[in-house]
Amino acid sequence: MTVFGTGYLGATHAACMAELGHEVLGVDVDDNKIAALSSGTVPFYEPGLPEVLERNLAAGRLSFSTNYELAAEFANVHFLGVGTPQRHGSYAADMTYVRAVIEQLVPLLRGEHVIFGKSTVPVGTAAELQELADSLAPSGTSVEIAWNPEFLREGYAVKDTITPDRIVLGVRSGESSAEALAREVYAQPLEQDTPFLVTDLQTAELVKVAANAFLATKISFINAVSEICEIAGGDVVALADAIGHDDRIGRKFLGAGLGFGGGCLPKDIRAFMARAGELGADQALTFLREVDAINMRRRDRMVDLAKRAFNGSLLGHRVTVLGCAFKPNSDDVRDSPALSVAGSLSLGGAAVTVYDPQGMENARKVFPTLGYAESASEALSDAELVILATEWQEFRDLDPKAVAELVARTHIIDGRNVLDVASWNAAGWTVEALGRTLTP
Ligand code: UGA
Repeated sequence: MTVFGTGYLGATHAACMAELGHEVLGVDVDDNKIAALSSGTVPFYEPGLPEVLERNLAAGRLSFSTNYELAAEFANVHFLGVGTPQRHGSYAADMTYVRAVIEQLVPLLRGEHVIFGKSTVPVGTAAELQELADSLAPSGTSVEIAWNPEFLREGYAVKDTITPDRIVLGVRSGESSAEALAREVYAQPLEQDTPFLVTDLQTAELVKVAANAFLATKISFINAVSEICEIAGGDVVALADAIGHDDRIGRKFLGAGLGFGGGCLPKDIRAFMARAGELGADQALTFLREVDAINMRRRDRMVDLAKRAFNGSLLGHRVTVLGCAFKPNSDDVRDSPALSVAGSLSLGGAAVTVYDPQGMENARKVFPTLGYAESASEALSDAELVILATEWQEFRDLDPKAVAELVARTHIIDGRNVLDVASWNAAGWTVEALGRTLTP
């Protein structure tokens, strides 16, 4: 099989499909990515992926290329995992890269081929791509478009790909060979009784955006309650624990704090709203505007708390922000709440120092004007305020007594509600948190 796109999704899919025993060619237009992957280097941080990549390169099951002619001859099964970022100046998804793969690949195909779309796309895309493919396929060649959305989480991408919690496949009505092929491709997870749901194309496309919209809504729900807790004097962590015991609600994704970011949840809810508008059903999803607004307000709230710590003005104050990746176990800073807070504090006049175990290189490209330290202790030295913005284990494990020796003022704001407040208080710290009223 081939896998088009070697970003977070495509590179992981390519390597993991080889791990399942398939012969895989990963394809990208970016020479640098292909060169790195071919030499066994994953161009981003994803725990466990380098080992899978190396093992399968060495076994000869996995290779990478920028050559579409080669890809067209290599396989009859193709996966499409290129990016669908937010379009500039709009909420809609940018479909340029998805269409470009079809436009370049299909004229080169001969025989019978199935293209499984994995990218997150607006509903209706697969049917449009089928029309496009039909118009481009050489005579005598048949190309079927099926949709097989991806649910992997960054940081757990290998596990989520090799042992997914469900496999969803959208197939066209009428004649289709996609299901039989997918059963071969995913034989191993299917043997382990992974739920396999075969739907029409539109449902499969919608499953993906609906899942991400639900997750975003769950996070914003608890963050909205957080706002009330702050005013009324409640504790959102205790509240989330209590409602989470109801198994209809569940405790997962009720982590109150700085909210969601990354390359998926924010752009997916916006693209979902944009698509609903195009379909004349914008009212159905107006609540997602509120989900987005609640999420962005958490960042403002953090900046307000920081200002309050300095009696209203950040000018010249030294603030250390721990974390700049959008979540732990990732180097991804796309729409990162942590980096957004660090940037706002800096623009507000604070001298901001950032440290993140993996996200610094990417953060530097987006925000070159922030201070970047080489280690947590270097970042903490002489800080007047510490903000925990991404809950890396390294930060959860910080010893409050040792950190107190480093800083100028023992004041920390826990933006992810992960610190043991009692032990930080015991070491002399003033601890504030989002959604909690903490009295030392
Ligand atoms: C998300 C989905 O979880 C995956 O299922 C999906 O495949 C992926 O998007 C995608 O569309 O490709 P990911 O973006 O890797 O995965 O990250 P999540 O683990 O979902 O976290 C998203 C954001 O929510 C992070 O910024 C995280 O810090 C935040 N979050 C998560 C909270 O603020 N509170 C929580 O309780 C949980």
